[in-house]
Amino acid sequence: MRHIIESQQFNRALIEKLFALADQLGNGHGTELRGKIMASLFYEPSTRTRFSFESAMMRLGGNVLTTENAKEFSSAAKGETLEDTIKTVNNYADVIVLRHNEEGASKRAAAVSEIPVINAGDGPGQHPTQALLDLYTIAKELGRVDDVRIAFVGDLLHSRTVRSLAYLLGKFTGVHMTLVSPNELRIKDDIKAYLKRHHVSFEETEDLTGAMKTANVVYQNRIQKERFEGTKIFDLVKSFVIDRKLADSMKKGAVILNPLPRVGELLPEVDDSPHAAYFKQMGYGVAIRKALLAHVLS
Ligand code: CP
Repeated sequence: MRHIIESQQFNRALIEKLFALADQLGNGHGTELRGKIMASLFYEPSTRTRFSFESAMMRLGGNVLTTENAKEFSSAAKGETLEDTIKTVNNYADVIVLRHNEEGASKRAAAVSEIPVINAGDGPGQHPTQALLDLYTIAKELGRVDDVRIAFVGDLLHSRTVRSLAYLLGKFTGVHMTLVSPNELRIKDDIKAYLKRHHVSFEETEDLTGAMKTANVVYQNRIQKERFEGTKIFDLVKSFVIDRKLADSMKKGAVILNPLPRVGELLPEVDDSPHAAYFKQMGYGVAIRKALLAHVLS
Protein backbone atom coordinates (compact mmCIF):
# COMPACT_ATOMS: atom_id res chain seq x y z
CA MET A 1 0.00 0.00 0.00
CA ARG A 2 1.42 3.34 -1.02
CA HIS A 3 -0.10 6.01 1.20
CA ILE A 4 1.44 9.50 1.06
CA ILE A 5 1.15 10.96 4.54
CA GLU A 6 4.26 12.97 5.44
CA SER A 7 7.55 14.18 3.96
CA GLN A 8 9.66 11.99 6.26
CA GLN A 9 8.57 8.90 4.31
CA PHE A 10 10.49 9.97 1.19
CA ASN A 11 14.16 9.28 0.64
CA ARG A 12 16.42 10.88 -1.92
CA ALA A 13 16.19 7.95 -4.36
CA LEU A 14 12.37 8.04 -4.37
CA ILE A 15 12.31 11.83 -4.76
CA GLU A 16 14.66 11.59 -7.76
CA LYS A 17 12.53 8.79 -9.25
CA LEU A 18 9.37 10.91 -8.87
CA PHE A 19 11.07 13.95 -10.43
CA ALA A 20 12.19 11.85 -13.42
CA LEU A 21 8.62 10.55 -13.78
CA ALA A 22 7.26 14.11 -13.55
CA ASP A 23 9.70 15.17 -16.30
CA GLN A 24 8.53 12.28 -18.44
CA LEU A 25 4.78 12.81 -17.87
CA GLY A 26 4.85 16.61 -18.05
CA ASN A 27 1.52 18.38 -18.42
CA GLY A 28 0.31 16.53 -21.51
CA HIS A 29 -2.55 14.07 -21.92
CA GLY A 30 -2.10 10.27 -21.79
CA THR A 31 -3.87 7.03 -20.91
CA GLU A 32 -1.61 5.68 -18.13
CA LEU A 33 -4.44 5.57 -15.54
CA ARG A 34 -7.35 4.81 -17.83
CA GLY A 35 -10.07 2.98 -15.86
CA LYS A 36 -8.83 4.27 -12.47
CA ILE A 37 -10.87 6.55 -10.22
CA MET A 38 -9.57 9.21 -7.85
CA ALA A 39 -11.83 10.52 -5.05
CA SER A 40 -10.94 14.01 -3.84
CA LEU A 41 -12.35 14.56 -0.38
CA PHE A 42 -11.76 18.13 0.79
CA TYR A 43 -12.90 19.25 4.27
CA GLU A 44 -10.98 22.55 3.92
CA PRO A 45 -11.01 25.07 1.05
CA SER A 46 -8.57 24.68 -1.85
CA THR A 47 -8.06 25.95 -5.37
CA ARG A 48 -4.61 24.74 -6.47
CA THR A 49 -4.33 21.37 -4.74
CA ARG A 50 -7.78 20.04 -5.65
CA PHE A 51 -7.78 21.30 -9.22
CA SER A 52 -4.21 20.22 -9.93
CA PHE A 53 -4.84 16.70 -8.58
CA GLU A 54 -8.04 16.46 -10.60
CA SER A 55 -6.35 17.85 -13.69
CA ALA A 56 -3.45 15.41 -13.19
CA MET A 57 -5.83 12.43 -12.94
CA MET A 58 -7.78 13.49 -16.02
CA ARG A 59 -4.56 14.09 -18.00
CA LEU A 60 -3.56 10.51 -17.17
CA GLY A 61 -6.85 9.23 -18.61
CA GLY A 62 -8.44 8.53 -15.20
CA ASN A 63 -11.73 9.67 -13.70
CA VAL A 64 -12.54 11.83 -10.69
CA LEU A 65 -15.16 11.81 -7.92
CA THR A 66 -15.06 14.96 -5.85
CA THR A 67 -16.55 16.68 -2.85
CA GLU A 68 -15.44 20.12 -1.85
CA ASN A 69 -16.55 21.41 1.53
CA ALA A 70 -16.97 17.80 2.67
CA LYS A 71 -17.97 18.97 6.14
CA GLU A 72 -21.20 20.23 4.60
CA PHE A 73 -21.65 18.21 1.39
CA SER A 74 -20.71 14.71 2.58
CA SER A 75 -22.32 12.58 5.30
CA ALA A 76 -19.88 14.18 7.75
CA ALA A 77 -22.66 16.79 8.05
CA LYS A 78 -24.86 14.02 9.52
CA GLY A 79 -22.17 13.03 11.99
CA GLU A 80 -20.35 10.28 10.07
CA THR A 81 -16.80 9.68 11.29
CA LEU A 82 -13.83 10.18 8.98
CA GLU A 83 -13.03 6.49 9.31
CA ASP A 84 -16.53 5.44 8.12
CA THR A 85 -16.37 7.91 5.23
CA ILE A 86 -13.01 6.49 4.13
CA LYS A 87 -14.33 2.88 4.32
CA THR A 88 -17.29 4.01 2.21
CA VAL A 89 -15.20 5.72 -0.46
CA ASN A 90 -13.03 2.57 -0.65
CA ASN A 91 -15.96 0.99 -2.52
CA TYR A 92 -16.05 3.67 -5.19
CA ALA A 93 -12.49 4.75 -5.96
CA ASP A 94 -8.90 3.49 -6.39
CA VAL A 95 -7.17 6.36 -4.56
CA ILE A 96 -8.30 9.05 -2.09
CA VAL A 97 -6.86 12.57 -1.99
CA LEU A 98 -7.76 14.01 1.42
CA ARG A 99 -7.57 17.55 2.77
CA HIS A 100 -8.70 17.91 6.37
CA ASN A 101 -8.63 20.55 9.07
CA GLU A 102 -7.27 18.17 11.73
CA GLU A 103 -3.58 17.28 12.05
CA GLY A 104 -3.19 13.51 11.75
CA ALA A 105 -6.41 13.02 9.75
CA SER A 106 -4.59 11.40 6.80
CA LYS A 107 -2.83 8.98 9.10
CA ARG A 108 -6.19 8.01 10.62
CA ALA A 109 -7.67 7.61 7.14
CA ALA A 110 -4.78 5.45 5.94
CA ALA A 111 -5.16 3.18 8.96
CA VAL A 112 -8.61 2.06 7.76
CA SER A 113 -8.15 2.34 3.99
CA GLU A 114 -7.44 -0.49 1.57
CA ILE A 115 -6.72 1.98 -1.22
CA PRO A 116 -3.93 4.61 -1.17
CA VAL A 117 -4.61 7.81 0.78
CA ILE A 118 -2.76 10.98 -0.25
CA ASN A 119 -2.48 13.78 2.30
CA ALA A 120 -3.44 17.04 0.57
CA GLY A 121 -2.96 19.05 3.77
CA ASP A 122 -3.96 18.10 7.34
CA GLY A 123 -4.56 21.19 9.45
CA PRO A 124 -1.26 22.61 10.71
CA GLY A 125 0.39 19.18 10.19
CA GLN A 126 1.83 18.54 6.73
CA HIS A 127 1.28 19.07 3.01
CA PRO A 128 3.78 16.62 1.48
CA THR A 129 2.67 16.86 -2.15
CA GLN A 130 3.07 20.66 -1.98
CA ALA A 131 6.59 20.14 -0.61
CA LEU A 132 7.43 17.82 -3.50
CA LEU A 133 6.26 20.36 -6.05
CA ASP A 134 8.16 23.09 -4.17
CA LEU A 135 11.34 21.01 -4.30
CA TYR A 136 10.69 20.17 -7.96
CA THR A 137 10.40 23.92 -8.65
CA ILE A 138 13.75 24.53 -6.92
CA ALA A 139 15.34 21.74 -9.00
CA LYS A 140 13.91 23.20 -12.21
CA GLU A 141 14.66 26.85 -11.51
CA LEU A 142 18.09 26.50 -9.85
CA GLY A 143 19.20 23.28 -11.57
CA ARG A 144 20.00 21.71 -8.18
CA VAL A 145 18.60 20.95 -4.73
CA ASP A 146 21.90 20.51 -2.90
CA ASP A 147 23.92 23.54 -1.73
CA VAL A 148 20.85 25.75 -1.53
CA ARG A 149 20.48 28.68 0.85
CA ILE A 150 16.76 29.04 1.54
CA ALA A 151 14.95 31.71 3.58
CA PHE A 152 11.56 30.66 4.96
CA VAL A 153 9.54 33.82 5.61
CA GLY A 154 6.30 34.54 7.46
CA ASP A 155 4.04 32.44 9.68
CA LEU A 156 6.40 29.54 10.28
CA LEU A 157 4.49 28.37 13.35
CA HIS A 158 1.35 27.27 11.51
CA SER A 159 2.62 26.62 7.98
CA ARG A 160 2.26 22.98 6.96
CA THR A 161 4.00 23.68 3.64
CA VAL A 162 7.08 25.06 5.40
CA ARG A 163 7.13 22.07 7.74
CA SER A 164 6.91 19.57 4.90
CA LEU A 165 9.52 21.32 2.74
CA ALA A 166 11.95 21.61 5.68
CA TYR A 167 11.67 17.85 6.20
CA LEU A 168 12.36 17.17 2.50
CA LEU A 169 15.31 19.58 2.26
CA GLY A 170 16.86 17.87 5.27
CA LYS A 171 17.55 14.90 2.99
CA PHE A 172 19.92 16.93 0.78
CA THR A 173 23.43 18.24 1.38
CA GLY A 174 24.80 21.73 1.85
CA VAL A 175 21.38 23.22 2.64
CA HIS A 176 21.23 26.31 4.88
CA MET A 177 17.89 27.58 6.22
CA THR A 178 17.24 31.13 7.40
CA LEU A 179 14.00 31.13 9.36
CA VAL A 180 12.55 34.65 9.13
CA SER A 181 9.50 35.34 11.28
CA PRO A 182 8.27 37.44 14.17
CA ASN A 183 9.05 35.91 17.55
CA GLU A 184 5.43 34.84 18.04
CA LEU A 185 5.41 32.80 14.81
CA ARG A 186 8.69 30.89 15.02
CA ILE A 187 8.89 27.38 13.58
CA LYS A 188 8.01 24.56 16.01
CA ASP A 189 10.66 22.74 18.02
CA ASP A 190 10.07 19.37 16.33
CA ILE A 191 11.39 20.79 13.03
CA LYS A 192 14.40 22.37 14.73
CA ALA A 193 15.16 19.05 16.42
CA TYR A 194 14.91 17.28 13.05
CA LEU A 195 17.26 19.79 11.41
CA LYS A 196 19.80 19.36 14.22
CA ARG A 197 19.57 15.56 13.98
CA HIS A 198 20.23 15.75 10.23
CA HIS A 199 23.03 18.34 10.61
CA VAL A 200 21.18 20.97 8.56
CA SER A 201 22.49 24.43 9.41
CA PHE A 202 19.84 27.02 10.24
CA GLU A 203 19.37 30.34 11.99
CA GLU A 204 16.32 32.24 13.26
CA THR A 205 16.02 35.97 12.58
CA GLU A 206 13.61 38.86 12.08
CA ASP A 207 15.89 40.45 9.46
CA LEU A 208 14.05 39.97 6.16
CA THR A 209 16.21 42.52 4.31
CA GLY A 210 19.42 40.63 5.09
CA ALA A 211 17.91 37.23 4.28
CA MET A 212 16.63 38.41 0.87
CA LYS A 213 20.14 39.50 -0.16
CA THR A 214 21.83 36.18 0.54
CA ALA A 215 19.22 33.50 -0.28
CA ASN A 216 19.05 31.39 -3.44
CA VAL A 217 15.41 30.67 -2.61
CA VAL A 218 13.00 32.83 -0.62
CA TYR A 219 10.01 30.72 0.40
CA GLN A 220 7.30 32.95 1.77
CA ASN A 221 3.96 31.90 3.20
CA ARG A 222 0.81 33.82 4.11
CA ILE A 223 -0.33 34.20 7.67
CA GLN A 224 -2.55 31.17 8.37
CA LYS A 225 -5.48 33.15 9.76
CA GLU A 226 -7.66 30.03 10.00
CA ARG A 227 -5.29 28.71 12.72
CA PHE A 228 -5.66 31.82 14.97
CA GLU A 229 -8.32 32.79 17.45
CA GLY A 230 -7.30 36.42 18.05
CA THR A 231 -7.88 39.35 15.72
CA LYS A 232 -4.87 41.63 15.10
CA ILE A 233 -2.95 38.83 13.42
CA PHE A 234 -1.91 40.76 10.32
CA ASP A 235 -0.02 43.22 12.58
CA LEU A 236 2.34 40.35 13.40
CA VAL A 237 3.58 40.03 9.83
CA LYS A 238 3.35 43.58 8.48
CA SER A 239 7.15 43.91 8.63
CA PHE A 240 7.55 40.75 6.53
CA VAL A 241 5.95 41.90 3.28
CA ILE A 242 7.97 41.37 0.08
CA ASP A 243 7.81 44.39 -2.24
CA ARG A 244 9.61 45.14 -5.49
CA LYS A 245 12.51 46.88 -3.76
CA LEU A 246 13.24 43.78 -1.68
CA ALA A 247 12.88 41.53 -4.73
CA ASP A 248 15.35 43.72 -6.65
CA SER A 249 17.90 43.25 -3.84
CA MET A 250 18.12 39.49 -4.49
CA LYS A 251 21.09 37.69 -6.00
CA LYS A 252 21.12 36.92 -9.73
CA GLY A 253 19.28 33.64 -10.35
CA ALA A 254 17.59 33.61 -6.92
CA VAL A 255 13.87 32.86 -6.84
CA ILE A 256 10.84 33.76 -4.74
CA LEU A 257 8.41 30.90 -4.08
CA ASN A 258 5.04 31.04 -2.33
CA PRO A 259 2.57 28.13 -2.21
CA LEU A 260 -0.27 30.68 -2.57
CA PRO A 261 -2.90 31.94 -2.02
CA ARG A 262 -1.30 35.24 -0.99
CA VAL A 263 -3.09 37.65 1.31
CA GLY A 264 -0.96 40.79 1.21
CA GLU A 265 2.44 39.36 2.14
CA LEU A 266 3.70 39.39 -1.48
CA LEU A 267 2.84 42.49 -3.50
CA PRO A 268 1.62 42.16 -7.13
CA GLU A 269 4.38 44.63 -8.16
CA VAL A 270 6.80 41.68 -7.69
CA ASP A 271 5.02 39.51 -10.26
CA ASP A 272 7.08 40.62 -13.27
CA SER A 273 10.38 40.47 -11.38
CA PRO A 274 12.86 37.95 -12.85
CA HIS A 275 12.95 36.45 -9.34
CA ALA A 276 9.20 35.71 -9.17
CA ALA A 277 8.71 31.95 -9.66
CA TYR A 278 5.48 31.38 -7.72
CA PHE A 279 3.15 31.13 -10.71
CA LYS A 280 5.50 28.66 -12.40
CA GLN A 281 5.60 26.78 -9.07
CA MET A 282 1.85 26.11 -9.12
CA GLY A 283 2.15 24.95 -12.74
CA TYR A 284 4.71 22.31 -11.75
CA GLY A 285 2.04 20.88 -9.42
CA VAL A 286 0.30 19.04 -12.26
CA ALA A 287 3.40 17.10 -13.38
CA ILE A 288 4.35 16.20 -9.80
CA ARG A 289 0.82 15.09 -8.93
CA LYS A 290 0.65 13.03 -12.13
CA ALA A 291 3.88 11.32 -11.03
CA LEU A 292 2.51 10.70 -7.51
CA LEU A 293 -0.77 9.25 -8.80
CA ALA A 294 1.08 7.02 -11.28
CA HIS A 295 3.41 5.93 -8.45
CA VAL A 296 0.71 5.01 -5.91
CA LEU A 297 -1.49 3.30 -8.50
CA SER A 298 1.26 1.37 -10.29
N1 CP B 1 -0.93 25.76 -2.02
C1 CP B 1 -2.15 25.28 -1.70
O1 CP B 1 -2.30 24.28 -0.98
O2 CP B 1 -3.18 25.98 -2.27
P1 CP B 1 -4.72 25.63 -2.14
O3 CP B 1 -5.11 25.84 -0.69
O4 CP B 1 -5.41 26.56 -3.10
O5 CP B 1 -4.92 24.17 -2.50
